[in-house]
Amino acid sequence: MSKKIAILPGDGIGVEIVAEAVKVLEHLKGDGLDLELVEAPVGGAGYDAAGKPLPDETLALVKEADSILLGAVGGPQYEKLPRELRPERGLLGLRSELGLFANLRPAILYPQLADASSLKPEVVAGLDIMIVRELTGGIYFGEPRGIREKANGEREGFNTLVYSESEVDRIARVAFDIAMKRGKRLCSVDKANVLEVSELWREVVERVGEEYQGVELSHMYVDNAAMQLVKWPKQFDVMVTKNMFGDILSDAAAMLTGSIGMLPSASLDANSKGMYEPIHGSAPDIAGKGIANPLATILSVAMMLRYSLDEPVLADKIDTAVGRVLDKGLRTPDIMSAGCKQIGTVEMGDAVMAELV
Ligand code: IPM
Ligand code: MG
Repeated sequence: MSKKIAILPGDGIGVEIVAEAVKVLEHLKGDGLDLELVEAPVGGAGYDAAGKPLPDETLALVKEADSILLGAVGGPQYEKLPRELRPERGLLGLRSELGLFANLRPAILYPQLADASSLKPEVVAGLDIMIVRELTGGIYFGEPRGIREKANGEREGFNTLVYSESEVDRIARVAFDIAMKRGKRLCSVDKANVLEVSELWREVVERVGEEYQGVELSHMYVDNAAMQLVKWPKQFDVMVTKNMFGDILSDAAAMLTGSIGMLPSASLDANSKGMYEPIHGSAPDIAGKGIANPLATILSVAMMLRYSLDEPVLADKIDTAVGRVLDKGLRTPDIMSAGCKQIGTVEMGDAVMAELV
């Protein structure tokens, strides 16, 4: 049965890098995978095309699609728009409308790119962490929120950090299941020394943990987790945390590898329908120059094959192809190092295609 894949390039370099990932998807079609690719605008491109960051037609498409490939959203030309029209709202709308509550953000150091990290090689060699970030709750979506005027005329901004037991329970289960398939260690990150919401979070994670006796569960405060990530990241296997903490820690973890241009991500609903995207943003500063690294987006296709389309063999094929391209010393500028050959976005896509035999 044909699978419908929604292709949402978005803004900035999103357009260029998604084009390379689409080449890979087209190749997979030739390989016997029955895919239908349908493109639609989102983010700033959605605003330009239909006056809002998540146009109705795009929303209808992603709802009926089996899987979604997203580039990136955002750009300086949209920063002055009212909040509800900004590109980021398109992304948040996709997450909440589709119930994509589980965000998987791996931080893997490719041995070929060990030089790219700003940390000492012995600290990061072999690094392989999976951050599981709750994506549809917490302070990003909590109500009430807003900017209001106090009695004395001064304005104050406010947001609400709220998690129900069921929200914590389901993200904890995703994290424990992933830990079971990896190193069987899970660190839950919270701020239980200050926040009641974290106290409950910790209690629920403990409770779910009783059903996963094979997994070693630990807890860490978020400030310490940030420090430990930089100090000795290899102590972590799987980390699970709230929406905002996950936003911050996943950027830090990604940079440990020195190459955010290499890291894919998956955002999954309760039935493993997923949206796949590179961890990096739309990089307006290099957009249109043909130098962006398409590998994170191509590796996002591999994640799609693994988590949503049940095609692990094809996923491995893509991962292997990327490894071979790196072995050959081919590099986009963001991962360039001495003795390697610098190439652009399209050449990098072509190089992966050439290895996909
Ligand atoms: C991310 C991004 C988004 C987030 C922004 C663009 C809304 O930083 O996916 O990590 O904060 O979730
Ligand atoms: Mg972020």
